[in-house]
Amino acid sequence: MSKTIIAKAHTNIALVKYWGKKDPQLMLPQNGSISLTLDHFYTETSVKFEPTLTHDQVTFNGQRLTAAKAQRIITFLDLIRQKSGETNRAIVETRNHVPTSAGLASSASGFAALAAAGSRAAGLELSRSELSRLARRGSGSATRSIFGGFVEWHAGHDDASSFAEPLQDPVDWDIQMIAVVLQASKKPVSSTVGMQRVVETSPYYPAWVDTANQDLGAMRQAIANKDLTQVGTLAETNAMRMHALNLSAKPAFNYFTADTLTAINAVQNLRAHGINCYYTLDAGPNVKIICASTDTAVITTALQQYFAADQLIIAKPGPGISITEA
Ligand code: PMV
Repeated sequence: MSKTIIAKAHTNIALVKYWGKKDPQLMLPQNGSISLTLDHFYTETSVKFEPTLTHDQVTFNGQRLTAAKAQRIITFLDLIRQKSGETNRAIVETRNHVPTSAGLASSASGFAALAAAGSRAAGLELSRSELSRLARRGSGSATRSIFGGFVEWHAGHDDASSFAEPLQDPVDWDIQMIAVVLQASKKPVSSTVGMQRVVETSPYYPAWVDTANQDLGAMRQAIANKDLTQVGTLAETNAMRMHALNLSAKPAFNYFTADTLTAINAVQNLRAHGINCYYTLDAGPNVKIICASTDTAVITTALQQYFAADQLIIAKPGPGISITEA
């Protein structure tokens, strides 16, 4: 009898970004990356393999997905079946605990939770680093969401060597992110398409790989020193270099909206007034502000000149995955 397994995984925001694959099949990245797992945004997923089913059944936030919409999840379940010898189809129920359509990296928490629940439901007892390798096959950023706190994903050179490890967990010093949740105004370029395009067409791509590799060492040191200024400065520079790749691709693309630039300017302005805060951005318009909790009031007050209070979500360092049996 197959069991129903439930896994909970939190999302993470990269401080040194992953933006390009060197092996799209195995999902090996061009460079390593470092992230912070957040408490506020998570995915809960249950999986049960069921002999009576003829198709995988996937429900997302209470809504049954068509086979076309569920294709990435079904492909991932096929990988689990291939690794475990499980032959049955699965019932998958997944719920994202992120503000509605916030567009906050749900593939990271989503595939981490699916890897954990799916593999256990198929009878596999994987270690955390094996789970990280499995999650990587669903979405690169999911590699890191197996772990809490600060996490590093080692680029590696094959399936066995490309996995994440915790750098610091729990995080016992004052660092947080304020997510500025903005409306996307244009058709998004998916992260898969965007990163592929920059690898193939940006003349700056080799410089990105060089500087990202340098950022990894500096970021590890800054985290070990619990140095918010260094973590923030490195993260902000790294993020803008990633977005410069997009601007230098052919054809060029970007994820910025007018509100994105307003939020970036507000952070720069706060910093000019002595507030220790920095921004980072991913494959969407939202801005994440890296700061100490002692500056929450001054930062949110300044941002509320432009944005509603409910667009500002305060997230603290969060835990790694948890797995339970229903
Ligand atoms: O793995 P994906 O497709 O979610 O790509 C993640 C890319 C970024 O979020 C922009 C950077 C990162 O390292 O998370």
